[in-house]
Amino acid sequence: MDEARIAAVDAQLTTLVAEDAALADARTSTEVTSPGIEVAPTLGKLLHLLALIRGARRVLEFGTLAGYSTIWLARAVGPAGRVVSLELDRDNATLARRHLTDAGVSAWVDILCGPAERTSALMVERGEAPFDLVFIDADKASLPTYLDRAAELTRPGAVLVLDNVVRGGRVADAAASDPDAAGARAALAALASDERWDATALQTLGPKGWDGIAIALRR
Ligand code: SAH
Ligand code: DHB
Ligand code: MG
Repeated sequence: MDEARIAAVDAQLTTLVAEDAALADARTSTEVTSPGIEVAPTLGKLLHLLALIRGARRVLEFGTLAGYSTIWLARAVGPAGRVVSLELDRDNATLARRHLTDAGVSAWVDILCGPAERTSALMVERGEAPFDLVFIDADKASLPTYLDRAAELTRPGAVLVLDNVVRGGRVADAAASDPDAAGARAALAALASDERWDATALQTLGPKGWDGIAIALRR
């Protein structure tokens, strides 16, 4: 495919997305463990719009990195809302908190540090109030686990978004040994069969290469 044209189209689509300095700083932050794996601006804005369309008050995120997607979600729920973001790496969490403060949203965002498998299980155990929207964007091998946690932490009507379900097309390669692709494949299979979710998925092209997202409604 024509890389230059894909980039030109992406630049054109991104003209619909207005970023202030705090969002741009969080997106271009290089001090994190894996710079450059935050969502593209068009996907950040999609998350923001989905939260607004749903009228979401409580949002749960798996994978904070530098807080780029977190800021988009936090600005959608506003100061009367709550965002809980789960992050493994302490240094990422510290940096994200700085970006959230710069963005003016830190008062209603909690970053829980530790493996999301554990922090999300703790929320289930403690009877955390249900979330209106869940965005899953942490380690891909654990996608099926996170999907179960998301179902336990939501009620019918909640919105679910999974990032990175295509992985350069490797999701369709059953023989691929890539644990990320295997996690994505298992998550798509679960979404297709799990009575609790009504789902679809889309391929995406752009600054992050060939990947995709799944979107689901909690039944
Ligand atoms: N949602 C962010 C990008 C997240 S990148 C954005 O779009 O701006 C994935 C993040 O998941 C990284 O910060 C990584 O440290 C974190 N992560 C990896 N494994 C994890 C785990 N087991 N539990 C919680 N977070 C994890
Ligand atoms: C990776 C993780 C992501 O969340 C992403 O959007 C792209 C890449 C990764 O771990 O390689
Ligand atoms: Mg991602």
